[in-house]
Amino acid sequence: MKNFYVTTPIYYVNDAPHIGHSYTTVLADILTRFHKIIGYQTFFLTGTDEHGQKVQRAAAKRNVTPQEHVDEYYHRFEDLWKKMNIQNDFFIRTTMPEHKAFVQECLQKLWDKGEIYSKEYEGWYSVGEERFFSEDELDENKCDPISHRPVEWLKEKNYFFKMGSYQQKLIDFLESHKDWIVPDYRWNEIRGFLRQPLNDLCISRPKIRLSWGIPLPFDPDYVTYVWFDALLNYVSASTAFHKTYADGTPIWPASYHLIGKDILTTHSVYWPTMLMALDIPLPQHILAHGWWLVNGGEKMSKSAGNVVNPMDYMEKYGIDAFRYFLAREMVVGQDANFTHEGFVRRINSDLANDLGNVLNRVHRLVLTNFGGVLPAPNALDDAANEVITIANRVRTNVMEWVPQVKLSQVVEEIMTLVRSVNRYLEIKAPWKLAKDESKKDELATVLYISAEAVRLSLSMLWPVIPGKSEEGLAMIGSKFTDQNDLVWGILKGGEKFGEGKPLFPRIEEEVKKAEPQQAKPKQNKPLMAADVPAAMDLRVAQIKEVADHPDASSLYVLKVDAGEGELRTICSGLKSSYQANELQDRKILLFANLKPSALRGIMSQGMLFAGDLEPETHKCRLVSVPEDAKPGDRALFKGVAPSEPRELKVKDFEKIALTAKGGAVFCDALALEVNGKPVTCDVADGAGIH
Ligand code: MSP
Repeated sequence: MKNFYVTTPIYYVNDAPHIGHSYTTVLADILTRFHKIIGYQTFFLTGTDEHGQKVQRAAAKRNVTPQEHVDEYYHRFEDLWKKMNIQNDFFIRTTMPEHKAFVQECLQKLWDKGEIYSKEYEGWYSVGEERFFSEDELDENKCDPISHRPVEWLKEKNYFFKMGSYQQKLIDFLESHKDWIVPDYRWNEIRGFLRQPLNDLCISRPKIRLSWGIPLPFDPDYVTYVWFDALLNYVSASTAFHKTYADGTPIWPASYHLIGKDILTTHSVYWPTMLMALDIPLPQHILAHGWWLVNGGEKMSKSAGNVVNPMDYMEKYGIDAFRYFLAREMVVGQDANFTHEGFVRRINSDLANDLGNVLNRVHRLVLTNFGGVLPAPNALDDAANEVITIANRVRTNVMEWVPQVKLSQVVEEIMTLVRSVNRYLEIKAPWKLAKDESKKDELATVLYISAEAVRLSLSMLWPVIPGKSEEGLAMIGSKFTDQNDLVWGILKGGEKFGEGKPLFPRIEEEVKKAEPQQAKPKQNKPLMAADVPAAMDLRVAQIKEVADHPDASSLYVLKVDAGEGELRTICSGLKSSYQANELQDRKILLFANLKPSALRGIMSQGMLFAGDLEPETHKCRLVSVPEDAKPGDRALFKGVAPSEPRELKVKDFEKIALTAKGGAVFCDALALEVNGKPVTCDVADGAGIH
């Protein structure tokens, strides 16, 4: 049997659960349920991170012991997951005695092997972040770059893990496991990070400064660093608590660690080197998702008062509506924007209009015309066969995309089946067939095909909306048992329909006009020229549609696939250089984080690159990407690690010059590459690339 072990980060016990925490947990739950129904044995772990200075301080403030504090606070997470219908197999707390013993065992093993040493250390220490920062990591006010609070100069003895000595081993591992970090541009980011020397990791805190932690077994005056303690939860849960699956195979290693992009370095540098030193196999994949932003691009924070509380939404609109929204709205890897209006629109269009509508129509028609018993089908016409073809395609894609964690695409794909049934019903108009006794056979076929397509859609949606899926299936006299049900033709006719009820009531609220789906990255201060190459988000994209711009004779309007699930619109002045058919399906290089701008009334969401061929006539040659590059692959300047995502303006791009040299594309001496292979342009040496 195939295994699937998925983890979420263990959440800081002090934090109030918000939409970000619920997203990762729902994602893990959906993936686990999907894997279960396609025949895997699964293990799903979540929990709370309960040591550290913040907990110690919060407890002191409340006049309780840290243990009392965490015993009370961890319930907020555990309770929320129960309410959200999360089926985790275990909830680990880092204060559990078994976990603490496991961490101490690991520390002792590394100490005995000489992988840990002590030395005097001095540096800028941030109390808020519980760590040292180097001088150049500090922000412009010489404060901690994360919380922007003052730092203090501290000198103390500490213990260090020889992380630096694993740098080459980690690089070799990454080079031979290019799919270890998902999405692949995050792999590039870590690979870029490892081009700088890797320091050793300080793994202790003196007890006089922090007592709420796991004591080092070889020096009781020290406790271990929270991250060292926290990361080990993934192994302690699957060795100290639950060792094997039902068939006796060991649970470790994890198939996927799901994390937010902010904790990528700890998971893809600290964690694998710790495991290498401990001779423990590495997890199979790290998947970093993006951030939920609010109000068109703001980070959530308590002080801004813009934190989205999952309970508010679940109580008002239902658990499954909230789960559906999370799964559909965020393209795994990218940031997503949460707005109340977006939520209402999504639920109304997908669940109330599309799924709810088709389910109610089929239910009502079978009830009124066949006494609530599904008729068997008769001869199939082209329209019926088309629904079956779509159903089979959707099923194949879902099976292929689930293991690749393309969740929003999976949900959207299932919804194309739902929409195809609504279209089919519009074409066949069974309410008209019902009025003509001679059309009874045709009516039976239409209702059978529709009910079976709805059954398959609801079954495939079960991992996402388990409660509503079960209720919907019961309405059409069916239920979901296992993967054998995920094929066309399970309903046979003769099934007795259950009671009808509106599963997805429309949310009747005034909502504002549509805003862009993906969040706009926050505006930062202007960039220096030297920072531009790292800040440009350059991606491989494939042209899917070419049309003339209705109001500008020199422009094409292109739809391009940049690996984001949805196509982007790009307006581009390529008409004097390319015929439309030369562009169809061609791969291009897209400037993906350029501020969208309207070109003669059409919003262009980025820009593509081409080199000057004949500047007088504006003729140009498109930049080419390596043959095996895929939409979404990121182009990076050699040796430059990408910086935090942000939106750039044309004037930022104008601070640098891209030119062709020997057929390749450069920014000064920096070669532009995709997956280590050069990006090229067939223009003269020195020609500009724009
Ligand atoms: N305790 C550590 C994790 C240790 S794992 C060995 C931690 N905890 S956390 O509670 O701060 O964050 C947990 C996760 O929530 C992170 O993956 C983080 O990215 C995610 N999120 C926090 N805010 C978020 C959003 N606004 N959107 C999406 N996820 C975000 O870090």
